[in-house]
Amino acid sequence: MAGGAAAAQAGEAGAVAGNNGAVIRVEDLTRIYELGDVKVPALRGVSLQVRPGEFVAVRGPSGSGKSTFMNLLGCLDHPTTGRYFLSGEDVSTYDADQRAGIRNRFIGFVFQGFNLLPRTTALENVEVPLYYSRAVAHAEREARAREVLNLVGLGPRMDHFPSQLSGGQQQRVAIARALVNTPQLLLADEPTGNLDSRTSIEIMALLQKLNREQGLTILLVTHESDIAEYASRVIAFHDGHLVDDTPVAAPRDAARELATMPVDEWAGNGAAKEA
Ligand SMILES: Nc1ncnc2c1ncn2[C@@H]1O[C@H](COP(=O)(O)OP(=O)(O)O)[C@@H](O)[C@H]1O
Ligand SMILES: [Mg+2]
Repeated sequence: MAGGAAAAQAGEAGAVAGNNGAVIRVEDLTRIYELGDVKVPALRGVSLQVRPGEFVAVRGPSGSGKSTFMNLLGCLDHPTTGRYFLSGEDVSTYDADQRAGIRNRFIGFVFQGFNLLPRTTALENVEVPLYYSRAVAHAEREARAREVLNLVGLGPRMDHFPSQLSGGQQQRVAIARALVNTPQLLLADEPTGNLDSRTSIEIMALLQKLNREQGLTILLVTHESDIAEYASRVIAFHDGHLVDDTPVAAPRDAARELATMPVDEWAGNGAAKEA
């Protein structure tokens, strides 16, 4: 960056205090994909701050830039222009190795399709990130994986393979895997997109619990307006622009709603009762 004021601002932002305590601060973020001669402007200048402990739902039509934004926040990709401060650290200029490093320290990712290794037990799936992040002894790795599987209510099924688990249970394994490195930030891209409505509410109950009890900051992409009502803030994209940013005065409480649902209708899933 050129200019004294800009440099001073960048230096100040390097410290957590300079980030105003925000977990995420993005400034005029753009991402233009280049397909040969064709340029696809997926994000056209997005500025936003997210504070610790917020639960943000990300909405917008297909193609509006939601996944592009999540991939940038998750350090899976880098912006074309603009800045991204993650816990005060300017990560917008990081190379792929640096992005992988900060991803392991700060961020957990959950996807619509679960992305579990099929011939690997729930326990082993959850252990995978620990192989990459740091030198962790086998016993400690397994203990930590058991701990997060218990946290998501899947303790009794940790020796099952993904094919032996329901969709909701597989998503719990994926959430446990995302939590195993103790991230500050959980990014979920349509995590309930493949689940029936009751199972979706169970997953939202789990995410609300993690948000409230662990202080986990969550950004969750969803197509469904009722799923967004469990968040404390809703932002919306359209054509690569952030077009709405609204706090939710009284978010719905998924656990309370589940408690009033007839037990026999969701007992077959098994997972919710253990949460
Ligand atoms: N890897 C890519 N290469 C080229 N264009 C892409 C790529 N990923 C997404 N796009 C385009 O960028 C725009 C935003 O896509 P995306 O972020 O996936 O939107 P959403 O998640 O809201 O559906 C779309 O026009 C999409 O076709
Ligand atoms: Mg998407």
